[in-house]
Amino acid sequence: MLENKVVVLTGGGDGIGWECAKAYVKAGAIICIIDKNPLADEKLNELINTENLVITCNLINETTVAAAFDAIVEKYGRIDAIHNNAAVAHPSKTLDETTNSEWDLLMDVNLKSILYTTRYGIAHLKKSQGCILNTSSVVGSIGQDNHAVYVATKGAINALTKAMALDYAPFKIRVNAVSPAAINTPTLQAWSQEQPNQNEIETYLNKLQPLGHMPAGDVIADACVFLLSNAARFITGIILPVSGGAELGYRTLI
Ligand SMILES: NC(=O)c1ccc[n+]([C@@H]2O[C@H](COP(=O)([O-])OP(=O)(O)OC[C@H]3O[C@@H](n4cnc5c(N)ncnc54)[C@H](O)[C@@H]3O)[C@@H](O)[C@H]2O)c1
Repeated sequence: MLENKVVVLTGGGDGIGWECAKAYVKAGAIICIIDKNPLADEKLNELINTENLVITCNLINETTVAAAFDAIVEKYGRIDAIHNNAAVAHPSKTLDETTNSEWDLLMDVNLKSILYTTRYGIAHLKKSQGCILNTSSVVGSIGQDNHAVYVATKGAINALTKAMALDYAPFKIRVNAVSPAAINTPTLQAWSQEQPNQNEIETYLNKLQPLGHMPAGDVIADACVFLLSNAARFITGIILPVSGGAELGYRTLI
């Protein structure tokens, strides 16, 4: 489904991003992972053939993002897709408890990183009539307690996705977002550790999703392969929940 597509994937070193990396390679893509942490050797061995690229770069640093895109274009001469997946979910706080630096970090990583990847990638996507995919979250549309700024960044990603879809449609560039609920990843594990009711947290996360369990990231990765593929050629501006129905209405949670 993604034969020879050059896909730039942020936060591809772990969690959902790592599942996407594997799924994109399996679908025939050539991937360029941009992550602040170097990839573990076993992952490198699993991914690395001469074609794929892994760049250690912190997305809050515009200069290193620009250099990463220069290196990608120098190696492949084109970019077919950008998947903005990297984010931080810490801290679990209400707005009034949030410090300026916590606000800035969440905004910089989760949102401003998309400004940078678009600034340095859009000219190449115009040439390839490529596409952009943003990883949002169901909380961006339904809210979540004790997680104010993270929720704000995901709500902004939903609105940004629609604005970008309209701005880039004249160039035949599609822009969509995928919206998970709770996926078992290092970030979710870290979030769980911050929650008061440790004994109930796993039950809560499973029950959050009407399909009854908290899945691993492969369920998101498969939807992302579809959204990047030609099968989704007439889809743009959508926020696709892949959530087991978590955003649906009233349910008896007992
Ligand atoms: N896990 C969930 O339950 C869940 C639910 C909804 C949405 N999401 C979203 O899915 C995406 C992936 O989340 P995850 O749970 O897989 O997280 P994760 O922590 O497992 O993976 C995030 C990856 O992004 C990288 N990263 C973080 N900050 C970075 C930076 N400044 N520069 C470069 N790389 C950086 C990390 O090194 C890591 O490899 C995020 O956008 C998150 O908001 C996750």
